[in-house]
Amino acid sequence: MSVQMAPSVLSADFARLADAAAAVAETADWLHVDVMDNHFVPNLTIGRPVVEALRKSTSLPLDCHLMIDDPDRWAVGYAEAGAANVTFHAEAAHDVVQTARAIRAAGARVGLGLKPATSFDDYQDVLREFDMLLVMTVEPGFGGQEFMADMMPKVVQARRFLRDNEMQLWIQVDGGVAAETIEECARAGADVFVAGSAVYGAHDPAKAVAALRALAEAAIPTSGCAHD
Ligand code: DX5
Ligand code: ZN
Repeated sequence: MSVQMAPSVLSADFARLADAAAAVAETADWLHVDVMDNHFVPNLTIGRPVVEALRKSTSLPLDCHLMIDDPDRWAVGYAEAGAANVTFHAEAAHDVVQTARAIRAAGARVGLGLKPATSFDDYQDVLREFDMLLVMTVEPGFGGQEFMADMMPKVVQARRFLRDNEMQLWIQVDGGVAAETIEECARAGADVFVAGSAVYGAHDPAKAVAALRALAEAAIPTSGCAHD
């Protein structure tokens, strides 16, 4: 699986989201869309109507990161709205497997998000239901926070588990990913990189994505690894 770059529009101008998508269209793989409900996290962003509008205004696949309570009820709506990927949080779901299956049945890929305090061990048994594991590298809720390097052992553990069990999930990191931190994420085993402030805070967002990709690709281990 090759490197996927997913700039987060959380750090873009919310009044000009179509322009934010266009600004990275040449160099990004996916557009990361942070959905927050002011319950699961102490912040409120956007919901399904905005995802539907974005879907019509960019050809970039939408990578929806749901930081919401009760994804069992709401997540499938984002697949129906045209998201390519729908990631929900393990901590918020009542039935992780059923929710994953509903998202896939609606035609999207599905990701499982883990907050920093959530252990990987508790979710090994359900990973076959997923296309991606999201290891949060900040406490979810806000952009521009400091990268948590102490999440790297979780990424290493997950990559090793996937390799040992011949599973092909992507491992996504989200939070504080920037030129100073992306290489250690890649070395640990991540292959999907979300970056908000490092992209939209840059003078040229498309160039920032390309530069981050180059750093990640150069840092990804080449031998005995599942990144092909
Ligand atoms: C935070 C969001 C992130 C956020 C990352 O809860 O999930 O996607 O946009 O922002 P940066 O890259 O600025 O840490
Ligand atoms: Zn996110």
